[in-house]
Amino acid sequence: MEQTLIWKRLTVALILATACLSTCFYVYVSYDEVILKIASGRLVISSLECAYNNTNNTTEKKSLNNRLNRSICNDTADVDNRVGNTSVACDRAEKLTELPDCSIAFGNWSNTTRPLVALSSFPGSGNTWTRHLLELASGVYTGAYSYDNDLYLGGFTGETEYYKRGRTLVIKDHRFRDEYKSAILLIRNPYDAVITLYHYHKMKHTGKIPLREFRNNAEWEDFAMEHFKKWINMMYEWISSNKPLLVVHYEDLKNDTVHEVKRMLEFLNTTLVSERLQCLEMDIEGNFHRHKEETFDFDPYTADMHTVIDENIRLANKLLTNINVTGVRNHTYDQDLY
Ligand SMILES: *[C@@H]1O[C@H](CO)[C@@H](O)[C@H](O)[C@H]1NC(C)=O
Ligand SMILES: *[C@@H]1O[C@H](CO)[C@@H](O)[C@H](O)[C@H]1NC(C)=O
Ligand SMILES: *[C@@H]1O[C@H](CO)[C@@H](O)[C@H](O)[C@H]1NC(C)=O
Ligand SMILES: *[C@@H]1O[C@H](CO)[C@@H](O)[C@H](O)[C@H]1NC(C)=O
Ligand SMILES: *[C@@H]1O[C@H](CO)[C@@H](O)[C@H](O)[C@H]1NC(C)=O
Ligand SMILES: *[C@@H]1O[C@H](CO)[C@@H](O)[C@H](O)[C@H]1NC(C)=O
Ligand SMILES: *[C@@H]1O[C@H](CO)[C@@H](O)[C@H](O)[C@H]1NC(C)=O
Ligand SMILES: *[C@@H]1O[C@H](CO)[C@@H](O)[C@H](O)[C@H]1NC(C)=O
Ligand SMILES: *[C@@H]1O[C@H](CO)[C@@H](O)[C@H](O)[C@H]1NC(C)=O
Ligand SMILES: *[C@@H]1O[C@H](CO)[C@@H](O)[C@H](O)[C@H]1NC(C)=O
Ligand SMILES: *[C@@H]1O[C@H](CO)[C@@H](O)[C@H](O)[C@H]1NC(C)=O
Ligand SMILES: *[C@@H]1O[C@H](CO)[C@@H](O)[C@H](O)[C@H]1NC(C)=O
Repeated sequence: MEQTLIWKRLTVALILATACLSTCFYVYVSYDEVILKIASGRLVISSLECAYNNTNNTTEKKSLNNRLNRSICNDTADVDNRVGNTSVACDRAEKLTELPDCSIAFGNWSNTTRPLVALSSFPGSGNTWTRHLLELASGVYTGAYSYDNDLYLGGFTGETEYYKRGRTLVIKDHRFRDEYKSAILLIRNPYDAVITLYHYHKMKHTGKIPLREFRNNAEWEDFAMEHFKKWINMMYEWISSNKPLLVVHYEDLKNDTVHEVKRMLEFLNTTLVSERLQCLEMDIEGNFHRHKEETFDFDPYTADMHTVIDENIRLANKLLTNINVTGVRNHTYDQDLY
């Protein structure tokens, strides 16, 4: 894991902490614990310690196991002495107790009772990020048709689960397969998806290549042309299968994350409960988001490429219109990697 990742998570934890705590309480996040937590998966708030000055003015620490144990500030006898101000201490402690339980587990459905639902997308369309959001929002792991070790190490525990076992919420797949009963079809403008995919192709989940490598580069052009076909093919297969589909535009998910997550959960016959909404809001980004500092000051696509892509987008929009779904969103040459 990259150092920056760890620090990012640490920052999240500290922001959370300071948002909840009065000056009477200090929250420490143990560096080791955060690393451990990242290695094994998810957030942060399970590795907090609360520190306070006891009656002897020595600083004591207590760990807060995921949710603050209410009794830390509720054994009222020494609250006064501990912080010098009962009302402040308990007031803040109350807020701490409201930290949600954001743990994630396998679903308890048996493999025969729940239909297999795909989370299907062309690569580079935000599939990993969407899984992160769905897991936080539902508390259930998502799975994958094919195993990716980086994702497993990054906390997607469902990654190693045999996809037909039925304990995961949705199954990531970049292809149409008839064995799925239904699918969430995640669609991102291909101009942006293919740029992201090329970054991924060169650097995997966490890296990025300099943008000049998109200029007059035959390798990039061949790569892009080859992949556009897959973009439209996957959509075509799903739509012509007549299976129940929920189309989610990646651009909408970015713009109004909570709303789109709610739609997805509804499609999965689940509701977003308020505690889980908090989990979502505390960690919208997830581990695999890489911001690109550079922006294009040239068009990475040649005129020929534009012709092909625009035609594909037109075809896609026709397909989407047939199932009463709005068309592909405008491109931004956005290079966020999720
Ligand atoms: C606790 O004690 C330490 C050292 O004695 C002091 O620096 C700190 O300000 C105290 N904290 C509170 C909340 O009184
Ligand atoms: C304060 O110090 C005394 C003497 O060292 C000790 O007996 C007592 O347990 C301490 N109190 C706390 C709350 O740590
Ligand atoms: C604890 O420290 C504060 C300020 O640092 C002081 O006012 C208070 O008297 C101290 N309490 C004890 C029990 O030593
Ligand atoms: C909270 O702390 C008390 C006392 O330390 C302990 O008995 C209880 O089991 C704890 N509750 C939880 C949920 O950890
Ligand atoms: C202590 O906990 C109880 C329930 O566990 C809660 O109702 C109360 O508001 C808490 N705070 C105080 C100061 O008692
Ligand atoms: C106790 O807390 C209240 C509310 O934060 C604050 O206004 C007040 O000054 C505090 N009292 C003492 C003695 O620190
Ligand atoms: C499934 O059941 C186990 C044991 O009862 C429980 O710990 C786990 O949280 C459940 N998973 C979900 C997603 O509800
Ligand atoms: C369902 O689960 C059982 C036990 O885990 C397994 O033997 C069986 O092959 C599974 N069925 C399918 C269709 O995956
Ligand atoms: C972004 O979402 C808001 C609602 O949160 C909506 O009003 C707005 O039209 C959306 N913008 C775009 C470009 O979709
Ligand atoms: C959700 O409910 C609908 C209607 O009952 C059903 O057809 C569908 O298979 C369910 N989906 C899941 C994932 O349970
Ligand atoms: C198409 O979608 C719109 C808006 O979502 C809805 O009002 C309308 O009833 C749908 N039409 C059909 C034929 O499903
Ligand atoms: C998308 O692009 C079309 C054509 O270039 C333009 O008319 C439209 O306003 C754009 N929509 C948004 C939301 O930017």
